[in-house]
Amino acid sequence: MSKNIAVVGTGYVGLVAAACFAKRHNVTCVDIDERKVELINAGVSPFFEPQLDELISAARESGRIFATSNINAAIEKCDFVFICVGTPSAVGGSVDLRYIEQAAADIGKALANIDHYIVVVQRSTVPPQTTRHLVGHALEKNSGKENGKDFGLAFVPEFLREGNAVYDFLFPDRIVIGTDDDRVARELFALYTQFNAELSSDRIFRTTPESAELIKYASNSFLATKISFANELASIAECIPCVDIRDVVFGMGLDNRINPKFFGAGAGFGGSCFPKDVKGIVHFSRTLGIEPFILDAVLKRNAFQASHVADIVERALDGRMAQSRIAILGLSFKPDTSDMREAPSLHIIGDLIERGAKNIIGCDPQSTSEAREILGDRISYCDNVLQAIESAHVAVIVTEWREFCALTPEIFIERMAKPCVVDARRIFDAHEFSKKLEFYAIGFGK
Ligand code: UGA
Repeated sequence: MSKNIAVVGTGYVGLVAAACFAKRHNVTCVDIDERKVELINAGVSPFFEPQLDELISAARESGRIFATSNINAAIEKCDFVFICVGTPSAVGGSVDLRYIEQAAADIGKALANIDHYIVVVQRSTVPPQTTRHLVGHALEKNSGKENGKDFGLAFVPEFLREGNAVYDFLFPDRIVIGTDDDRVARELFALYTQFNAELSSDRIFRTTPESAELIKYASNSFLATKISFANELASIAECIPCVDIRDVVFGMGLDNRINPKFFGAGAGFGGSCFPKDVKGIVHFSRTLGIEPFILDAVLKRNAFQASHVADIVERALDGRMAQSRIAILGLSFKPDTSDMREAPSLHIIGDLIERGAKNIIGCDPQSTSEAREILGDRISYCDNVLQAIESAHVAVIVTEWREFCALTPEIFIERMAKPCVVDARRIFDAHEFSKKLEFYAIGFGK
């Protein structure tokens, strides 16, 4: 049976959930940004995410999705309301909860006017105890109703990756339901298993809201730790002839206790989640009086990785930074997204400019306009890779876009002023490239 679902916040977490749920249910998206509301109602995604436009336009045609800035209208008929607003980093790495507080208060006020039971699902990443205390209290205070009786509350973390968000929503590894309330657990279990018939019940894990909140931070922090660990080993590998970090992590990953996934050395992790969430748990840990030794080091190593890439470039150019044309291939924080938040490219470019680089061309298939907003005319831009490497003295692979993977040594040799490639994402065959041109790669010892 179709349910009525309201989703508050149409960032990539909220909108992906809304568009996917609308395959089966009636979904109302709520956002204070009128531009987003208009775009969604026109069947268009306000941001680039594979498959999302198609899903939204199909849902508009079937009448299953509608966007509004009026939260009362959205809550009036709904069975579930998902809170998917942003939780950005505040000063010192603490988490800015003001949007959560506002959303919970608005939902509370809307709840005061309805006379049926609804389940409120907190999805934004928040420090442990936020759902129970801040969200729960705001809902009760503003509605005059009782949590556990008039409405239910859960924290259900999201594990979507940008660029794969639709796939991750439709085929999740796990659903974590954080609630003490049996009715809420039953209703969410039914919502997810009916929506996704292939989701086996052993992939749904129920725990307390606080454990679920920590699971979210711990998952992102653990993956970030794997990446920083791989990057540290890569630096060691670079100093030893005939060692390749790719072989090292592959060999390690054959042990299924270690697992080869998310173990790729490169330009460092970026995006709207890993840096923010690791900083968030570091800060949260200190509020508890616990010194976060490991997670501090994960951040330190990640910041170092960008300057390490800049070191390699400087070495490759023999220090001739000001006279050289540097092609940065890849600006977004990872492929298949135009998202520039905390992108390693920004740190690498900033570092190169500080070291005297004057002629940098940034090339990206999706994010040149986003990059231009941040970097302005400090660099030039281009979305065609062949033009970007034309007459360059070094080409640096910073994001592993498919378009770049198809480049051959011959293409670089033919077009560049000095054929020299720094592969910071390990997309090329290091042996072949190093035989044919000047080649440096993260974790490739020579
Ligand atoms: C991440 C998590 O993977 C999701 O599970 C989570 O839901 C999401 O954060 C979130 O909290 O919302 P996302 O930020 O979209 O997803 O991107 P990832 O694919 O995880 O990549 C993050 C960064 O790590 C990228 O800069 C990527 O280049 C880097 N990375 C990834 C590596 O350097 N090496 C790897 O082996 C994998």
